[in-house]
Amino acid sequence: MEKTEFYSYIFKRKSIRNYDLTPIDDVTLKEISEYLNSLKPIYDDIKTELKIVSHDHVKRRMMKEAPHYIAVFSEVKKGYLTNIGYMLQQADLFLSANGFGSCWQGIPAPTSELLNSSSLEFIIFIAFGKPKDPGSLHRTSISEFKRKPLGEITDITGADELLEVARIAPSATNSQPWFFTGNKGIIHAYSVKPGFIKRFMVKKYIPIDVGIAICHLKIAAEHFGKKAEIVFDKTAKMNNHKGHEYIASLKME
Ligand SMILES: Cc1cc2nc3c(=O)[nH]c(=O)nc-3n(C[C@H](O)[C@H](O)[C@H](O)COP(=O)(O)O)c2cc1C
Repeated sequence: MEKTEFYSYIFKRKSIRNYDLTPIDDVTLKEISEYLNSLKPIYDDIKTELKIVSHDHVKRRMMKEAPHYIAVFSEVKKGYLTNIGYMLQQADLFLSANGFGSCWQGIPAPTSELLNSSSLEFIIFIAFGKPKDPGSLHRTSISEFKRKPLGEITDITGADELLEVARIAPSATNSQPWFFTGNKGIIHAYSVKPGFIKRFMVKKYIPIDVGIAICHLKIAAEHFGKKAEIVFDKTAKMNNHKGHEYIASLKME
């Protein structure tokens, strides 16, 4: 399996919910597992554990069955949920680029056996496998993304080609709870409170969503030949833009 350049898959990926339930062969699963061990974190002092499990370990709660799941565990530390979003979005793109469907799944719960199998906190599942309809794996046009327009998620001008990848990033219930300020050299990512009803459903997932968007931004910056680094900017933290919560910044040279 290839770790290809992910940039183009940002524009093709989509959540897959209908799977061919035939298990993926062991050699391929091992390659996926090896890739999971190489995911880059934002914060390398936060312990994480990623396990590939079958549906026997998942209480699906109405969600359709998938042949495999990544069970995601993390140490609970400042920034841990954003870190998980950033890390596992690399897996989402890797799977999509290699012909597999995947879907972040916050609704299912782990069985008690799975929960007790790690000393870290259970965070979320990502379902994956071959899509039932192979033709459904990728989007073929940007118009297939149901997303807010760029003007609603940023006040930065002149960096549309970068911000576009954050705009089309996946988020829980598609709430797109992010806002970006700054300039071409540094993009500050903030989380936004979603509407009243969604707020209760997705609160835990908001920092994960922003981590996903930051992952897309970093991939795009590198695609355009920039050296990109995720930093914590004290001024951006002080200027909590319109009451949004500051998460992190992407500094580019
Ligand atoms: C943190 C997170 C949790 C999610 N949980 C679920 C879920 O439990 N069930 C589901 O069907 N989709 C879930 N999704 C998928 C979103 O609904 C999906 O990403 C969003 O609607 C955008 O669609 P797309 O991924 O096809 O671009 C989740 C996504 C994220 C990022």
